[in-house]
Amino acid sequence: MSGNHFAAWMEGVQHRTETALGTILPEASIAPQRLHEAMRYAALGGGKRVRPLLVHAAGEIAGADPERLDCVACAVELIHAYSLVHDDLPCMDDDVLRRGKPTVHVEYDEATALLVGDALQALAFQTIAEGRVNDDPAVQLQMVTLLGRASGSRGMAGGQAIDLGAVGKQLTREELEFMHIHKTGALIRASVLLGAQCGAPLAPDAQARLDRYGKLVGLLFQVVDDILDAQADTATLGKTAGKDADQNKPTYVTLLGLYEARTLADVLLAEARDAIASFGATAARLDELANFIVHRRF
Ligand code: IPE
Ligand code: IPE
Ligand code: MG
Ligand code: MG
Ligand code: MG
Repeated sequence: MSGNHFAAWMEGVQHRTETALGTILPEASIAPQRLHEAMRYAALGGGKRVRPLLVHAAGEIAGADPERLDCVACAVELIHAYSLVHDDLPCMDDDVLRRGKPTVHVEYDEATALLVGDALQALAFQTIAEGRVNDDPAVQLQMVTLLGRASGSRGMAGGQAIDLGAVGKQLTREELEFMHIHKTGALIRASVLLGAQCGAPLAPDAQARLDRYGKLVGLLFQVVDDILDAQADTATLGKTAGKDADQNKPTYVTLLGLYEARTLADVLLAEARDAIASFGATAARLDELANFIVHRRF
């Protein structure tokens, strides 16, 4: 019963995110048409929308208004979409398939893919700065800053730099965790915090517990991504399977082996659920989402 509820809730958030993104992204008929068409190609019609789901789920803890959550959800998803377009470029992971479609540089060209990333990133900050995501402008400014930190050289982009520098190397467990917490974890953690910041202020201890959940789920997400890259097939993933091994990337699978990596995912899941247990019913969606992240097939 609750599983069905969760599936319906998930679809609802995915659908409203798609609609909101469709409105925020400039129409393909507006000049420069090719760039706008490619931005829409990159951001619409695919993806699990895990970060928007986390925004909405965290918003429930703080009783946040769903329209504010849509705005923040779009901002984080635009950053994520940009990171995927750049991650797939020949100078990075050199991937031809994403979300079951040719990657942006394959469908368009490399220069367009570069500009799509630039423009999606700018649109993300425009979106969170322009919308009314909190009554207090000072809090809204903190939220813009948080998104900047999570996306930049001390967050996602920094993690991507570490990833590229680690090709062909064996990392220690500590180094691998550092890389994953940055390249993937930072934006996921920010999604959780930003969702909550759309609502009523949380007490410092509640804020700390939510932040712990976000950090754990961020790491967990990339541990599972590493496992799926090694275990799932291309058709299911909608992106090329086995890329990490092909490109000699250090992952949790190369460090621990598949079995131990799975065990770690289960341990992180238990810790993440534990971190939010005291919120009770308002954290039900966050709890289910952590579970979804571990047991997803793609
Ligand atoms: C893939 O992210 C890239 C990582 C950060 C691991 P997702 O698995 O969330 O990709 P989509 O958005 O569902 O396509
Ligand atoms: C990407 O990690 C993290 C990003 C910031 C995009 P991966 O390179 O493992 O993501 P996939 O497997 O290509 O989706
Ligand atoms: Mg990569
Ligand atoms: Mg990649
Ligand atoms: Mg991967």
